[in-house]
Amino acid sequence: MAKFKVLVTDHISQDGIDILRADSDIQVDIMAGIKNAELKKIIGEYDAIITRSGTTVDAELIENPGKLKIIGRAGVGLDNVDIEAASMKGIIVMNAPTGNTLAACELTMGMMLSVVRKIPTANQITKAGEWDRKRFMGIQLYKKTLAVIGLGRIGGNVAKRCRAFEMKVVAFDPYIKKSRAESLGVELCDTLEEAIAQADVITFHTPLTDETKNLITSKEIAKMKDGVVIINCARGGIVNELDLVEACKSGKVAAAGLDVFVTEPPVNHPFFDVDNIYVTPHIGANTHEGQYGVAVIIAEQVKNALHGRSYRNA
Ligand code: NAD
Ligand code: MLT
Repeated sequence: MAKFKVLVTDHISQDGIDILRADSDIQVDIMAGIKNAELKKIIGEYDAIITRSGTTVDAELIENPGKLKIIGRAGVGLDNVDIEAASMKGIIVMNAPTGNTLAACELTMGMMLSVVRKIPTANQITKAGEWDRKRFMGIQLYKKTLAVIGLGRIGGNVAKRCRAFEMKVVAFDPYIKKSRAESLGVELCDTLEEAIAQADVITFHTPLTDETKNLITSKEIAKMKDGVVIINCARGGIVNELDLVEACKSGKVAAAGLDVFVTEPPVNHPFFDVDNIYVTPHIGANTHEGQYGVAVIIAEQVKNALHGRSYRNA
């Protein structure tokens, strides 16, 4: 009988599962999409669980953790894991923060270009048999100002690529050194307001925390340029959803692109009725390379931690 049991509760790349299964001490069960009520009944039988954003690991779920020692997140964001509750129960929380950086960065670039050139709508209309070139007048990125909010791994890579587009890039991130911004050719602003007030395009790359929830509401939007473009491929709720809808409807915000929602999956969401809001279903990390990266990293880490070898904690 295997010494350790690992439960995978979300879809992760087979490469990660193969790493765990290659270890004869580890039994891996896969129950992607399992609901919390079911999961709660069996979670205590496992030494570790591996999730993505589909499982909300809250205090209730780990109330009686049984054997559970490790929560592994195959990705960056830990907003779906109650780290404090886990720590109280002596459970290690770990993530794979570098595996999907470029995947999320490239989706952001795709979203930015799609939004400023209305590519998804043009595709739809053309395939529906219309040939309407006048309708698809876009905004050029060259010489425009981009504000990156959160100049970490993903934000930094987005900044680099937008510099190659010859955009001016400014950023707001109170937790990084000026030298990091300088090395990226980015002007670091002292306040959020200073960054958003001068931007033609604003992109968000912060984690979702108490501080960043509703970072942007109608109040902040009022300080932005008329016709600004907003991109959020980080987490739903950093930009207040209803305030964004209003601003896109009024034209204050020319267009917005979002990969993430406050509640996922969204049902009858107010974004769906607004033509200048473009959405995708939280696919920022979904490249073969990104999914390979996070699955392999988290599998190695979980394996090492189970065996008492050194590992990286979140
Ligand atoms: P990171 O930790 O490298 O960077 C986050 C940056 O945000 C840091 O530099 C931090 O200082 C900054 N920050 C924190 N609070 C801030 C605040 N109040 N104002 C401004 N800046 C602030 O993380 P990352 O790898 O770049 O990922 C960023 C986020 O992107 C993740 O937390 C995750 O939620 C999201 N993400 C989404 C997808 C997706 O599928 N759409 C994929 C990967 C990551
Ligand atoms: C992350 O935080 O890494 C993303 O949400 C990606 C994901 O898990 O799909």
